[in-house]
Amino acid sequence: MKSMFPQAVVFPLALFSASLFAEPPTLQASNETQRDHFVSALLKKMTLDEKIGQLRLISVGPDTPKSTIKQMIEKGQIGAIFNTVTRPDIRIMQDQVMQLSRLKIPLFFAYDVVHGQRTIFPIPLGLAASWDTQAVTTVGRISALEAAQDGLNMTWAPMVDVSHEPRWGRSSEGFGEDTYLTSMMGQTMVKAMQGNDPADRNSVMTSVKHFALYGAVEGGREYNSVDMSPQQMFQHYLPPYQTALQAGSGGVMVSLNSINGVPATANRWLLTDLLRHQWHFKGITVSDHGAIKELINHGVASDPADAVRIAIKAGIDMSMSDQYYSQYLPGLVKSGAVTAAEVDNAARHVLNVKYDMGLFRDAYSHLGPVGSDPKDTNAEDRLHRAQAREVAAQSLVLLKNWHHILPLKKQGTLALIGPLADSQRDIMGSWSAAGVAKQSVTLLQGMREAVAGKATLLYAKGSNITDNAKVQAFLNLYEPAVEVDKRSPQQLRDEAISVAKKADVVVMAVGESQGMAHEASSRSDIRLPKAQRDLIDAIKATGKPIVLVLMNGRALDITQQDQQAEGILETWFSGTEGGHAISDVLFGDANPSGKLPVTFPRSVGQLPLYYNHLPTGRPYDFTHPNKYTSHYFDIDNSPLYPFGFGLSYTEFTLSPISLSSSMLTAKGQMVASVTVTNSGKLAGGTIVQLYLQDPVASISRPVKELKAFEKVQLQPGESKRVQFTLSKNDLSFWNQQMKWVVEPGQFVVMIGTDSVHTEVKSFTYQ
Ligand code: NOJ
Repeated sequence: MKSMFPQAVVFPLALFSASLFAEPPTLQASNETQRDHFVSALLKKMTLDEKIGQLRLISVGPDTPKSTIKQMIEKGQIGAIFNTVTRPDIRIMQDQVMQLSRLKIPLFFAYDVVHGQRTIFPIPLGLAASWDTQAVTTVGRISALEAAQDGLNMTWAPMVDVSHEPRWGRSSEGFGEDTYLTSMMGQTMVKAMQGNDPADRNSVMTSVKHFALYGAVEGGREYNSVDMSPQQMFQHYLPPYQTALQAGSGGVMVSLNSINGVPATANRWLLTDLLRHQWHFKGITVSDHGAIKELINHGVASDPADAVRIAIKAGIDMSMSDQYYSQYLPGLVKSGAVTAAEVDNAARHVLNVKYDMGLFRDAYSHLGPVGSDPKDTNAEDRLHRAQAREVAAQSLVLLKNWHHILPLKKQGTLALIGPLADSQRDIMGSWSAAGVAKQSVTLLQGMREAVAGKATLLYAKGSNITDNAKVQAFLNLYEPAVEVDKRSPQQLRDEAISVAKKADVVVMAVGESQGMAHEASSRSDIRLPKAQRDLIDAIKATGKPIVLVLMNGRALDITQQDQQAEGILETWFSGTEGGHAISDVLFGDANPSGKLPVTFPRSVGQLPLYYNHLPTGRPYDFTHPNKYTSHYFDIDNSPLYPFGFGLSYTEFTLSPISLSSSMLTAKGQMVASVTVTNSGKLAGGTIVQLYLQDPVASISRPVKELKAFEKVQLQPGESKRVQFTLSKNDLSFWNQQMKWVVEPGQFVVMIGTDSVHTEVKSFTYQ
């Protein structure tokens, strides 16, 4: 296939400032040479079938029961297993390899450890809302430790798909709409999970996903196609994957979507030209579930053999969960349609990562000796509750606090109402790995503990998550995920109204069930389900003040509820310790510092709505409305809550920006600084955010782009000078000829505690 871009286009290795890449990749050059020798020698001993076997990633299931897997292992027909998550189960298969197979090439074991393994932390969107790389490091280290102690070697994470699409259920799994924030979070996760060496007893190798651009599926509809300009792709969507690879991620999972007509799984430009030749990636590429087969549906392969030929030539090393590689590769090699070198190449990548995982030194490196397995995999003492509670508190975003309704006092009578108030399953969110719902703390439990002996807490469910039978059936398709109360909606509401009437304040836990913000869970309506809207209307009618606690996995349209509630706390799906953490913030035992990683629209009709959009030729100005400008005539252009927004129980003020110089040069650096002061009465933290704009360039550049941020923690009255160092790279962009350039002229720097209210200053680049 012809390359998509002119030869001249070379994607620079250092897209971001050097500090992002301060640490070397995990594998040093000398190790790499040793590895290459080892793998080359091993490949020489392998038959074609054994090499093809290494390319197969299989999950135990109805099509491949344990007995079949055993036979395949014996014949060297499997390279790795996913979805087996306990040491005893994993040990059986590794024993079979070591005892029954000819070459004893260890299997590796993988799983979706996305935001925790046993201890479940907030969903990635919530982690991004913390804007706290320390917190994300904690999550990554603990997740890796618990996964490694379960015998796993690899995780299908982090998911760094930038998305402007709240309709897409998987926006819950990513780090939001911004390139830089996503890059920082993804990079931190890779470093934390892999540690100094993915082979370490307490580390796992990461597999960044979904390569590439999955977050941009049209209309936010799952598994849909992506059509995107090269500038948009390279400027906004590709950097997080590249940053994760620079941080050393050993794996890449390939996305299910097509990109400008070519499915990622069939995309030689993406998987070979860009990933291997320009980014020098040496680890493995893994197709997503059944993706090779789907090349036929995409309309680029005529039959299964054709799909296999296209996939392996494009650069897919391992095929996930299908029999296609084993069924068709031998014939394709025989006929010459696929070369032996192409199979060798893919097998080499698999053996490379097994080497990096330390499996050739010790196939049991993450299993330990027989008899050392935990007696109870779900034992309470395997959990890291304190860290989960702390991280969860940092992920909460206070959106509204009318007349300081929050923090609540632990006195009088409080009511807790809502279908999510006592749901142990939902609070864990999607992809909750091996987390056990019974071990998670609901908001009801958290609040009960917090007010015990001090205040009265009344509770009513108030409504089902949804009364729509079709949606209930959808959510319960594979597991009994949503409990449907047998009482009528009116009975549920009546109980809630009578509870509310007895209370001083009503806390309402509303939002989505975890299954609504998941893979294959796209929504065309991002409001709260009607049953919950009706419940809020009914409680509002009691005249009691309302604090909404939102639990959800995407930006929602809460325009109506924003007018009804006095307080709104966005809590995402906050994990095993969510109930404690939310309660800590509601009662002021923790001060919220989270900021939105996504824009909250006023209506689904505004989508896509994101802060770093391009200017238009006819900008709408609400102070001088003009019909022939870019706007909807029935709704404001602005979001309900902007990117980067979040309140605190204290106040922060920023000084004007000072610049170390009024001019930046190609080799120079410039320091932009502000003094942040906690001008309120409580200790608290905030996120200082720096945005840049290039107001006049050869192509339209975004109205602002996040380039740096720092979390600061201040006592009342305390100030801190926050300094950001800018260099040429921060001003650079992909021009019309797809060259990475910086154009001399004026630039604008904006610093604030959200993306809208900022201090502003200009400088020139020469
Ligand atoms: C399909 C999903 O798209 C992917 O994210 C996940 O890692 C695999 N299934 C394995 O569970």
